[in-house]
Amino acid sequence: MEGDAAWMDGWDRTQLQTLADTYGTPVYVLDRARVARRCATLAAAFDGVDVRYAMKANSDPAVLATVIDAGFGLECASAGELHLALETDIDPGRLHYTAVNPPTLDLDFFVECAELRPAMTVTAGAVDTLQRLLDRQYTGRVALRVNPGVGAGHHAKVTTGDADKFGVPIEEAMSVLERFEDRLRFVGLHAHAGSGILGDDHASHLAMVDRLVALATEAAAAVPGLEYLDIGGGFGVPYRPSERPLALDALAAAIDERLQGCPLPLAIEPGRYLVAPAGVLLSRVNTSKRARTQRIIGIDAGMTTLLRPMLYDAYHPIVNLSAPPERAREPVTVTGPICETGDVLATDRPLRTPQRGELLAIGITGAYGFEMASTYNMRARPARVVLDGDEHTLSVPHQTLDELLADRGVSR
Ligand code: LLP
Repeated sequence: MEGDAAWMDGWDRTQLQTLADTYGTPVYVLDRARVARRCATLAAAFDGVDVRYAMKANSDPAVLATVIDAGFGLECASAGELHLALETDIDPGRLHYTAVNPPTLDLDFFVECAELRPAMTVTAGAVDTLQRLLDRQYTGRVALRVNPGVGAGHHAKVTTGDADKFGVPIEEAMSVLERFEDRLRFVGLHAHAGSGILGDDHASHLAMVDRLVALATEAAAAVPGLEYLDIGGGFGVPYRPSERPLALDALAAAIDERLQGCPLPLAIEPGRYLVAPAGVLLSRVNTSKRARTQRIIGIDAGMTTLLRPMLYDAYHPIVNLSAPPERAREPVTVTGPICETGDVLATDRPLRTPQRGELLAIGITGAYGFEMASTYNMRARPARVVLDGDEHTLSVPHQTLDELLADRGVSR
């Protein structure tokens, strides 16, 4: 097996090669059956809990259909995500818009949608946001997002619960609820500790739950309309071979234990957990060169295709799909085509030495992969293909150079 090929379990190498040949690279492949299995595992662990899928992790229509089939709601981060959510057949009562410092367009769009679908809920994390909702004559369902003062996550850039940007400080939550209670319909309390919680992070996550339960107890007595306590998402997945999967049942039991006596039922907002292992990024090698101290492999995916390594030093397992098993492995640095030194997807990675034209599979890229792609360097956005059993469909085609140029008012 390749250095870290355990993640490839169940992926069909020949099928992946065919997809790369058929659709071109770089291309994200999403396996719908895997998403469905993750949904079933999560639903079993959190039996009876209201699950809202955080669609920022992956908003492909096939993913949305799968999570809705599993009985989950949707958590949207923007007007764009709301639009995609409204394209599905979801019951509006399962739609939640999290307004983080919401731009005017987003808030206007939410209020417009909610006029027609009053069962939708907005989660607001600042007094200004509540005020801006009132300015728009909104009097509907609101969850108050609090900042619990304790965060968790795989990197400082995604540790949220103690980041001042998010939520009303938990110690001010009661006074904010009381101040707006006669004008807005508070239905929920919300907090999100951060993303990618694994291993040692659990203690922080559970400390957040404790603080929220204390608030919920006080708030439910003062605000009778409260319906739920949403503790956000954050459930991590192992990316490195050395990392162990989350013991989801144990985590759910630990959360449940803390909720004993809490007057509000639980809601959660997982994103990554449901989709990360369901995605693979396929990319072809254009350069394989011996530099002074290392071998550099240049591929057609880079930081504009998969930003996580550049932004968070994130690890994604890589396998050379083209190399015969007898080829020796060599530590290589895998780089993209962007003119930045940090455009590196892996360092010192033992791969069967990739040659020009060969195909690499970059694993566990179903969450925050395609969604964070950009057109920096005027580089076209990648494509996405959805696997559904033996069928595959092109969900998002490669952006063409003509489309990219047209965006800037240029034609060729
Ligand atoms: N709820 C809220 C309010 C959130 O902001 C997020 C993620 C989630 C739920 C879902 O968190 P998850 O279960 O996926 O951890 N781009 C980063 C992750 C950013 C997460 C942002 N918020 C990454 O690639 O690691």
